[in-house]
Amino acid sequence: MNSVTTINRPQTTVVLAMTADGKISDFKRSRLHFGSSSDLAHLQRQVAQADGVMLGAGTLRIDGIAIRVTKPELLEQRKQQGKLQQPIQIICSRSGLIDDKLDFFRQPVSRWLITTKVGAQHWQGRSEFEQVLVVETPTGEIDWINAFQQLTALGMNHISVLGGGELVSSLLLFDLIDEIWLTVCPLILGGFTAPTPVTGKGFLLSEAPRLELLNVHRIDQEVFLHYRRQR
Ligand SMILES: NC(=O)c1ccc[n+]([C@@H]2O[C@H](COP(=O)([O-])OP(=O)(O)OC[C@H]3O[C@@H](n4cnc5c(N)ncnc54)[C@H](OP(=O)(O)O)[C@@H]3O)[C@@H](O)[C@H]2O)c1
Repeated sequence: MNSVTTINRPQTTVVLAMTADGKISDFKRSRLHFGSSSDLAHLQRQVAQADGVMLGAGTLRIDGIAIRVTKPELLEQRKQQGKLQQPIQIICSRSGLIDDKLDFFRQPVSRWLITTKVGAQHWQGRSEFEQVLVVETPTGEIDWINAFQQLTALGMNHISVLGGGELVSSLLLFDLIDEIWLTVCPLILGGFTAPTPVTGKGFLLSEAPRLELLNVHRIDQEVFLHYRRQR
């Protein structure tokens, strides 16, 4: 695992809801909202603190929309803090294969794309993404360290990562995550292939990112776990 705690990069918080058996969707990878209204309010508060919201292309293809701040008090809070009305939506995609008919592209939000040279081909010179960050390693993968440094240079101080599991896995691998919020919801979805908060190749115990539990908070039947990456 690379240790990059010294690079100039945004603070990064992952926010996910999972089932009691640790799944973030069902085996069909359906678009699901199994969190309660308390969880939705929690998500809104987290998004409201961010300069940018980061999503993997897989999640965008399924959800099709941006999560926007809608509560008047949170919009007012952003105004007082000198933030843009809505956080910038930062999509991560190796392929750049995203349907431009998604509602996401009609929503009144700023959109940025982090991608490879191939992925950028379709989007450069178009209006859908305000910024197309082409950050590629010699092997054609996204260069996450470079991407995060560029995000800082573009004014991003705090990013909320809203999934999915492949994106979270990549960011953990490069030690780019500082905090994780997990809402444990009272249901079970099971399934070998149902996505979990962290997919990717996985870590051996000796390399497993370690966490410090900052807070546990229960509201009705849900438990809100707040972790900090322990370094
Ligand atoms: N419960 C929750 O809170 C929650 C939150 C979010 C998502 N979900 C669920 O999670 C599922 C999606 O998870 P997922 O793991 O499939 O999706 P994901 O991480 O959102 O998306 C995977 C895609 O994102 C891009 N990507 C991710 N990591 C990358 C990397 N290191 N380099 C380059 N591109 C990268 C790639 O896009 P390209 O294919 O375009 O190259 C990849 O195919 C859905 O079922 C969704 O509903 C649940």
